[in-house]
Amino acid sequence: MTKTFDLTENGVNNLKMTNSSRTCSVYRSFECVANKHRRLLALVTSGITLALLIIPFYCLSDLDINLSFQPFPTKSTLHQAGVEVSGHVKLSPRPLTGVDTINNTLNQAGVEVSEEELLLRIKKLPLKLMSPSKQLLKHPYFSLRPSVVEHYTNSVLRQPDSTCGQAVHIIVLSHPRDVTTRRAIRETWGSVAKGRPWPGKALSLPVTLTFVLGTESPQKHSLSSINGTALSSADKEEKSGDETIQSQTYGGRPSSQPEENIESDSGDILQFDMFDSYANLTRKVLLALDWITSACKGVQYIVKVDQDIFVNVPLLLTFLKYYGENNTIYGHFYNWGKVQRKGMWAVSEEAYPLRGFPAYASGTSYVISESSARILTKLSSYFPYIPIEDAFITGILAAVGAIDRVKVAGFTIWEDPKPNACAFVTDEKYTGNRMNESDLRSVWRTQVDRGHGLNCQ
Ligand SMILES: *[C@@H]1O[C@H](CO)[C@@H](O)[C@H](O)[C@H]1NC(C)=O
Ligand SMILES: *[C@@H]1O[C@H](CO)[C@@H](O)[C@H](O)[C@H]1NC(C)=O
Ligand SMILES: *[C@@H]1O[C@H](CO)[C@@H](O)[C@H](O)[C@H]1NC(C)=O
Ligand SMILES: *[C@@H]1O[C@H](CO)[C@@H](O)[C@H](O)[C@H]1NC(C)=O
Ligand SMILES: *[C@@H]1O[C@H](CO)[C@@H](O)[C@H](O)[C@H]1NC(C)=O
Repeated sequence: MTKTFDLTENGVNNLKMTNSSRTCSVYRSFECVANKHRRLLALVTSGITLALLIIPFYCLSDLDINLSFQPFPTKSTLHQAGVEVSGHVKLSPRPLTGVDTINNTLNQAGVEVSEEELLLRIKKLPLKLMSPSKQLLKHPYFSLRPSVVEHYTNSVLRQPDSTCGQAVHIIVLSHPRDVTTRRAIRETWGSVAKGRPWPGKALSLPVTLTFVLGTESPQKHSLSSINGTALSSADKEEKSGDETIQSQTYGGRPSSQPEENIESDSGDILQFDMFDSYANLTRKVLLALDWITSACKGVQYIVKVDQDIFVNVPLLLTFLKYYGENNTIYGHFYNWGKVQRKGMWAVSEEAYPLRGFPAYASGTSYVISESSARILTKLSSYFPYIPIEDAFITGILAAVGAIDRVKVAGFTIWEDPKPNACAFVTDEKYTGNRMNESDLRSVWRTQVDRGHGLNCQ
């Protein structure tokens, strides 16, 4: 299946799809529904029961906003903001070119699950294009503000010391205190970033792992004080690690411990001068994307995961090697996710006036191609800050930047229960959530024993 964009002065999202009936997503069908809606209105006046209308009205209430507002970003307004847009997606497997790939002869020696076998397993996990709605994007909210409204300029306090230009760069969003969680990740699925093999499976591409941290206190930090504590903290890591508090959200954490919890010798930490709070998560991800796109030449895909996620690295790497495209985000996509006005995920009407978000990838785990990360970070400054990281970055900004979104079965969502460890042996899942340290280790042990202990099929 192929889709193309027309880049016209009226907009960048003039989407054309061949074979569109089969892949008509809710977004695309909004336009179909809109037409139906008009017909139904006519029916209502002739006495048809209201019940028939409930669903179309519910879906359309936000999309029916006056469509004659100023046009949504054109190629030239995007160009002024420094964004070059290109559009094209082909969903047919072909190997990634132009990057170093792992020597297959070496890599596949003795593995039970080869790259070819992984490709067969990937074919069982369906893909779906999430088409942006042209009508939705005509809402004035989606126009770039005339000038920068949000700066992302927090300084870097610590950066990874190893080379970071591998084809795939995984970032794990982590809190400074979660030393033992980071250690569990390094010792399990993350160990492949240090050149270790994955038990029994081929690894298709080289991969980097970086933990992205803010600071424990809101005060500004100077580089010298951070460097100073880092030097003296190596021997404290064990002790402070035992007291680490597990948290799946960043909110409500007491910050009584000093910064020196941070392991100084791991070389895989990217830390920004920014208070590590849930409300600052959008900022943290955008800073990390910006850092990687400028510091790591050669990266093709950035994978963002929370720290309670197990990543099936071999399956993900093979997927990206054969199906990965520029200008695309991969993950589990929500359609028209409801905007909360109260509670932890609240967004004010001033910050975002619509009642739903454009299709966005669950923040638990998603993949952004490097070219789209550049577009997203550039666009971010021209929109008011929204603390819902996944909806803002992979929904709003991605829609404005005409970035393709591909829903991939097997990426987890926040609501998912903890998966069975076998799902990673048999490759039914790319990522799994709700993993505490002992879960990470037990899922890894299941990989090591090839699922024999659990009789995985
Ligand atoms: C891959 O590894 C094999 C075995 O060590 C070696 O003979 C071969 O030359 C390598 N190929 C490349 C392209 O490096
Ligand atoms: C702190 O560490 C960074 C990164 O290693 C280095 O570039 C910087 O010069 C150091 N600053 C001081 C004051 O030592
Ligand atoms: C975000 O980080 C900045 C810089 O550290 C801090 O001043 C601010 O209070 C943080 N915001 C929230 C909502 O935590
Ligand atoms: C993505 O763009 C880069 C740079 O233009 C190019 O080298 C690479 O082949 C492209 N990748 C794909 C999958 O099209
Ligand atoms: C991790 O979760 C399991 C339940 O899946 C629970 O039994 C265990 O106590 C938890 N471990 C930690 C360290 O919180």
